[in-house]
This record gives sequence, C-alpha cells and structure tokens, in this order.
Amino acid sequence: MSPSAEEKINRIAPVLRILLGQDGQYPTVRFVEKTSLPAVAVSVPDSADETAVIEAVSKALDRASDVQAISVEGVGVFEVGAVADATTGRVAGKVLIVTGAAQGFGLEIAEDLVSRGAWVVLADINDAEAKKQAEILQQQYGAGRAMAVAMNVTDLASIQAAINETVKTFGGFDVFISNAGVLKAESVKTQPEKDFDFSTAVNYKGYFLCTQVASKILALQHKADPAYMSDIIQINSKSGLVGSNRNGAYAGSKFGSIGLTQSFALELIEDGIKVNSICPGNFFDGPLWSNPDNGLFVQYLRTGKIPGAKTIEDVKKAYEAKVPMRRGCTTPDVMAAVYYLIEQKYETGQAVPVTGGQVMLH
Ligand SMILES: NC(=O)c1ccc[n+]([C@@H]2O[C@H](COP(=O)([O-])OP(=O)(O)OC[C@H]3O[C@@H](n4cnc5c(N)ncnc54)[C@H](O)[C@@H]3O)[C@@H](O)[C@H]2O)c1
Repeated sequence: MSPSAEEKINRIAPVLRILLGQDGQYPTVRFVEKTSLPAVAVSVPDSADETAVIEAVSKALDRASDVQAISVEGVGVFEVGAVADATTGRVAGKVLIVTGAAQGFGLEIAEDLVSRGAWVVLADINDAEAKKQAEILQQQYGAGRAMAVAMNVTDLASIQAAINETVKTFGGFDVFISNAGVLKAESVKTQPEKDFDFSTAVNYKGYFLCTQVASKILALQHKADPAYMSDIIQINSKSGLVGSNRNGAYAGSKFGSIGLTQSFALELIEDGIKVNSICPGNFFDGPLWSNPDNGLFVQYLRTGKIPGAKTIEDVKKAYEAKVPMRRGCTTPDVMAAVYYLIEQKYETGQAVPVTGGQVMLH
C-alpha cells in the first residue's frame, strides 16, 4: 500500500528540519501546496524506507546553498524558516507540544516556554479554549509562536491527527510534554468503575498512546542526525510516589505511569529520546483546586474534609501545613524541573519530585 499524504509528510519534513539545522538550532519547515520561493527539487520514491529518505534528502541538500524551499514530487513543497530564529531564550527555536494546555499547569507551562523562545503547540480536548489561549500567546509573542490543536489523549487517531498538524506546521518537534490529566477522588469502597476507567484512560493509557505516536517522529529525527536528542516529559504527581487517601484511581494511574516512564526510557534511548516524569505537589493556585464553583477547596469545605474549617482559606492553610516549605507548588517550580530535564543530557527514566519537601525519595 502506498503511503498516505500525511505519512509522506511525516517521513520527509522531520528529516529536512534536522538536516537543515546548524549548531543544534533547527529551522521550522512548513508544508504548503505551492510556493513563490525558489525550491530545491528532491525525489523521494513512495517505496523509500526511512534510510532511503534520509539519503535522498541529504544528497539534494549537499548540492544546494541558501535553501528556502524544497519541492518533493507527488508530495508538495516545504518552506524553510530561518535557522537562527528571531527568538532568544532558554528554549529558543525548539518546538514543544504540551497536552492539556487549555488551562492549569499545561497552559502556564506553554506560556513559560513561549516566553523563553519556543514554538509551542497547545494540544487539548477543549480545543476552543486551547485556540483562544494560543491566540493570546500569539498577540503577546508574535504570529505563529503558538498553535492550538484538538487532541484527545485517549484516542490514537486524534493524537495522530494532532501530530500530523504539528509536523505540517513546524516540520517536527523536540519535546513532548504529556501533561493532560484528570482526577476523580473517591473511596475504593464506593467509586464507580467508570470513574476508575476514566482516570486510567487519560492519565495512564493516554501517556502510552501519546508516547507511541510522538516517539516515531522523534526517532526519525535522531536517525537523520544521531547526535540529535529529544525529550518526552510526563507531568506526574506526588501521588505517583506515595499513596493518596481516597484517591486510589488517580494515584494508581500516576504510579503506573512511572513504570511506563522507566520502561520507555530503557527502550527509547536507542532513538535518542530521554523519557522522564515530573512529580509536582499540589498546585493550589490552579483551577483544579481554586475554581470557585467546583475546585477541591470548595469541595473539601462542603464535605467537611478538614475538621473545623469554616472558610476556603482554612482548608488551604490545612493543606499548606502538610508541606515542609508551607506553600503549594507553582508553575515556576515545575519549569525548573522541565528545563533541568531538557538541558541535562545524562539522565533518563527519572521521576523528579517538586513537592516542597512533602515527598522525599528513598
Ligand atoms: N493541580 C494539581 O494540584 C496537580 C498536582 C500534581 C500534578 N498535577 C498534574 O498536572 C497535570 C495538569 O493538571 P491541572 O491541575 O493543570 O489540571 P486541569 O484540570 O486544570 O487541566 C487539565 C487539562 O487537560 C485537558 N484534558 C482532560 N482530558 C483530556 C484528554 N482526554 N485529552 C486531552 N486533554 C485533556 C483539560 O481539557 C484541561 O485543559 C495533570 O496530569 C495532573 O495530574 C496536578
């Protein structure tokens, strides 16, 4: 069977992006039907495997200078952005996908990355909100710096479609942040099976499915240049390191995901992919806790979970008191771990706690 249009783009654009890189900086490579730019012609037979694609592209690029576009017969044209993008910052020119980026940690992670020079894809099941947030980021940081894609992390076809869109727009990506997660806290004695399945599907299986799709592009980029390395980072939780009372479905999905991280790390290092988890403590300022209608603070106040608490502030204080550093986790705390994992070239398969001392490894 001959490859689909998307499959052809997915095996050519990432190779172009990496082979056009200079000193660890990579241009964006955008798929277009037609271009007015002068284009270098590359011939890639449908039957070519990855190695043959890399050879064909390298040969064509070796003969060319100042490449502005590449045309591939039967596929289309790829326009090449500047290698040294106008952006500066800790992740300048890198392309990152963040799942669950319409709100909460995911959105704040995406914002921080864009502010430090990255191109960011906000992937969320709530695509309307992700789109709104991507537009706000573009207004602040420039056109094209952020893009929203619809993605349901429990659905392989939806993940594949989002990755296809990312590759068409940027040519590939360097870091995949698996952040989308859900929480339905309830006692094992009463929790409906469907709620357990829901947590497991999003937090655990979703991470597996996303890694399966994302790793193909990252592995191809490594094949194009064996010195190139990339990252998959899962936003886990302190509940992936210690049990969580009346919250087994969530904690189980997070513990299980650390098993996935360790196993993926062992397997994917041959493709130059580091795989790590970050385990944040409670993000009290985010909507999960602070939403005035259904946030955990309001829920815990209503259900009397904290004896004697009369206000949301009382509930919050009780939770802060559990943390040696006496405060909740914030996005800058998480970002310190994200940048550590990207910049550290000699670590994989780890679960990095960011808990203010609430969870200590042993
Ligand atoms: N909030 C905390 O206190 C806390 C603490 C530690 C870890 N975490 C973890 O951080 C991550 C983000 O949590 P948050 O508090 O920002 O959550 P949140 O509820 O504020 O946001 C979650 C986002 O994920 C999206 N989402 C849900 N299901 C999805 C699906 N199937 N496909 C794609 N997107 C989906 C939602 O639309 C939403 O935009 C989660 O993995 C969570 O377990 C949160």
